[in-house]
Amino acid sequence: MSLSSRVVPWVRSAAFLSQNWVTLLGAVLTTTSAISMIAFWVFEIVVGGGALTYPYAGIILFLALPAVFVIGLLLIPIGAGWRHHRLWARGELPKKYPELDFNDPGYRRATALVGYLTLINIVIFTVASYRGAQYTDSVRFCGNTCHTVMQPEYTAYLGSPHSRVECVQCHIGPGASWFVRSKVSGVKQVFAVLFHDYPEPIPSPVESLRPARATCEQCHWPQRFLGNPIVVIDHYAPDQDNTSSTTVLMMKVGGPTGNQTEGIHGHHVSPGVEITYTATDAKRQVIPEVTRTDPSGKTTVYISTDIKATPAQLAAGEHRLMDCMDCHNRPTHTFQLPSQALDQAMFRGLVSTNLPFFKKQALAALEVNYPDGQTARRRIAEALQNFYAASYPNVVSSQRSQLDTAIGEVQAIYSRNVFPDMNVTWGTYINDLGHMDWPGCFRCHDGSHVSKDGKTIPNDCDSCHHILAMDEHNPKVLSDLGIQ
Ligand code: HEC
Ligand code: HEC
Ligand code: HEC
Ligand code: HEC
Ligand code: HEC
Repeated sequence: MSLSSRVVPWVRSAAFLSQNWVTLLGAVLTTTSAISMIAFWVFEIVVGGGALTYPYAGIILFLALPAVFVIGLLLIPIGAGWRHHRLWARGELPKKYPELDFNDPGYRRATALVGYLTLINIVIFTVASYRGAQYTDSVRFCGNTCHTVMQPEYTAYLGSPHSRVECVQCHIGPGASWFVRSKVSGVKQVFAVLFHDYPEPIPSPVESLRPARATCEQCHWPQRFLGNPIVVIDHYAPDQDNTSSTTVLMMKVGGPTGNQTEGIHGHHVSPGVEITYTATDAKRQVIPEVTRTDPSGKTTVYISTDIKATPAQLAAGEHRLMDCMDCHNRPTHTFQLPSQALDQAMFRGLVSTNLPFFKKQALAALEVNYPDGQTARRRIAEALQNFYAASYPNVVSSQRSQLDTAIGEVQAIYSRNVFPDMNVTWGTYINDLGHMDWPGCFRCHDGSHVSKDGKTIPNDCDSCHHILAMDEHNPKVLSDLGIQ
């Protein structure tokens, strides 16, 4: 059978069956959406996609238009099948489809046109699906589209060291199966937002988060850590002078020189080391049992003598392999507590330390429960202005601009950390890196986790850091190190 004798009957039946309004509608939808998409791609090349700031533009251009395109494509055969079925049911299906005269140049051109259009449609479909996938992976889509829902995480992200890392690099990571999983759960989330069916605040820890070894370790890997960084922390007291004090720690993170299993990273995440634990609460804060396997394969089980967990509670708890996220659970959505935020603003000179009692007054203004952000910003300003007008009128007259800048920064601190719409307030999200504001390291390193042979998970102050200075005024060690 020659090619044309196989193709011709097919073209004949297609030409006959496609004469119905469903197929016609399909053709119209496909063509118009295809033209709009091509027009947008040309616009993007000439003007640049960044010109589109309207948050729903992406949903329309990358998701809705391709959906219309695909629906149109599907309607074309559906209409033909429907006509076939109707004629068949009525016994009106022709034995032989009407002849097409391929000597007629009009028919020949029409057939060629359909062929070309099909090829073009395949190309459009491929480009559109690629663009759609790319768009739903973008920071703009994840952080901005469902504005209220992601506002806390997005705002914190923008001010973090990872603000140039895309959301999907930590939340999804490489590989086809996680890509598919994320798209499936993404569709569910879009519906959750449409129907306002989501928890406020979004719960943490994220149970389905991909293990950190497959995401964080795309960029940071344990054999390549920097060593023992010096951490300088400044605090300001809530007194008249906002008196400053400084703590200097040398964190024993561990590094590429020396033994790989030493230091903070070495003991938990170096190759061959495995720590698993059981947490009996949803936030992973209560940890009655920890097991560590060292590179030689030796296993030690530590049981807390403080937490009394029944075998049933232990069995029902979460069993987890420790990874980066068990310490660095807020590497990018780092919300601050009010005192810490004010300390940092004072240290960086954004808030003047010459304003009497500023730390104390600002703390009080920040810790009030406000109904919404706008009211909060207004009342924070009023509270501070009223205090200085009543108690320090000379400050208002002589340090006006310092006071205004400081008040602006306190308002900004509130906006970065508290989101009444999502019920996110001070301390909603726990930070596990440390032990001052939350249990953090001390969930295990509290001195109560003991093994059968009497070994304790260490908690002496020098095991994680050398304390080079603690709450000192201008510590000498900073000038010795050439830092100050
Ligand atoms: C550097 C890695 C990283 C990047 C980049 C990142 N996240 Fe996260 N995200 C995390 C971690 C880690 C958690 C907390 C996981 C846990 O505790 O289980 C988290 C938690 C969340 C949560 C749950 C609520 C919470 O605060 O714990 C949301 C929502 C979220 N991220 C959204 C985003 C969005 C939107 C972006 C991009 C604008 C983004 N993330 C970028 C690492 C990241
Ligand atoms: C796409 C690459 C990339 C991924 C993925 C990534 N990071 Fe980072 N991370 C960086 C870069 C780059 C920096 C340095 C930023 C800077 O110094 O401004 C950084 C900095 C850090 C820091 C130091 C922060 C500080 O305050 O200086 C920590 C801790 C960290 N990352 C942890 C994580 C964790 C945990 C994950 C996984 C949830 C992760 N990172 C995923 C690229 C990445
Ligand atoms: C047992 C807790 C813990 C675990 C697990 C952990 N870290 Fe850390 N990490 C720390 C501490 C503590 C610091 C020092 C923090 C500081 O400087 O204040 C640190 C520092 C860092 C830094 C800063 C750069 C450096 O080398 O000094 C990066 C990046 C980092 N960690 C990434 C990771 C990644 C990626 C993982 C997972 C492979 C991981 N960490 C696992 C506790 C941990
Ligand atoms: C889930 C439990 C758990 C958490 C949380 C945890 N650790 Fe550990 N850590 C262990 C275990 C288990 C060991 C090993 C003890 C042993 O067998 O020597 C260990 C050992 C260490 C060591 C080696 C101590 C030494 O002198 O031998 C350091 C340093 C350390 N951890 C730092 C940290 C820091 C810093 C944090 C918080 C950021 C932290 N750990 C959080 C379980 C934990
Ligand atoms: C298991 C590890 C570990 C142990 C044990 C430990 N620390 Fe820490 N400590 C940390 C980490 C991690 C941080 C956070 C460093 C940072 O903020 O970058 C920290 C922070 C601190 C800070 C600074 C807090 C601030 O905000 O000013 C002080 C002070 C401190 N530790 C004192 C101590 C003292 C005192 C002990 C002994 C009772 C102790 N630590 C035991 C891990 C540990």
